[in-house]
Amino acid sequence: MAMLEFDNVEVFYGKVQALRGISLRVDEGEIVALLGNNGAGKTTTLSTASALVKAHSGKIAFNGADISKAQPWNVVGAGLIHVPEGRRIFSTLTVLENLQLGGYLVKDRSVVAKRIEHVYELLPLLAERRAQQGGTLSGGEQQMLAIGRGLIAGPKMLMLDEPSMGLAPLIVAQVMQVISEIRDQGTTVLLVEQNARAALKVTDRAYVIEDGVTTMEGKADDLLADPRIIDAYLGA
Ligand SMILES: Nc1ncnc2c1ncn2[C@@H]1O[C@H](COP(=O)(O)OP(=O)(O)OP(=O)(O)O)[C@@H](O)[C@H]1O
Ligand SMILES: [Mg+2]
Repeated sequence: MAMLEFDNVEVFYGKVQALRGISLRVDEGEIVALLGNNGAGKTTTLSTASALVKAHSGKIAFNGADISKAQPWNVVGAGLIHVPEGRRIFSTLTVLENLQLGGYLVKDRSVVAKRIEHVYELLPLLAERRAQQGGTLSGGEQQMLAIGRGLIAGPKMLMLDEPSMGLAPLIVAQVMQVISEIRDQGTTVLLVEQNARAALKVTDRAYVIEDGVTTMEGKADDLLADPRIIDAYLGA
């Protein structure tokens, strides 16, 4: 069953059209990647799903419900959680406080506490640094914290915007490994990446976005072997 579905979604920022026709689906249990160059519309696609940006036309459904006109907190409440580009952790708050903020819409504090324990099991480096200020973490650790914070909200689907950005290859591989474990534990993942090679190693399927339009879709293995993908996104 489709968990998230975009049907020909168009988005404008003022007079500038950022999305010209995004159509995609993510099924329960999948990791799906959105690939594309700078300015292609990847972040806008995630922001539109999160209702931070309004769709001008087209339809967005999450678990069968139309969310094209929903409010951001309703989308979060429904279990669609967005880990934004650039991590945006709070540098003067501790790791624990950053994680607690991920549960701001969860009424039952014992649920938040349980989820934090689960995140500490998945990401032991955060457990070790729980009392440390977020700003003192390395880039990779901050990315893990941003992902961990997303998990505290109790996602059915986690949307990650360029989690590999600015990280060394070894750390990118660790982040991808964590994403894979998150899926194995039952959370569906929509992963935006410019690092197509790293993303396609852990994803089931991917879409390519070019100039606001989804132009290609395929299984990760097929895309890794596709000359157009190799040329445009995988380098030599
Ligand atoms: N707040 C905004 N106001 C006006 N135009 C915007 C805004 N945000 C994005 N855009 C424009 O919309 C288009 C899509 O941007 P978007 O950030 O979605 O691309 P992206 O694929 O995420 O790029 P990147 O890889 O650089 O993060 C770009 O042309 C961008 O300049
Ligand atoms: Mg972006």
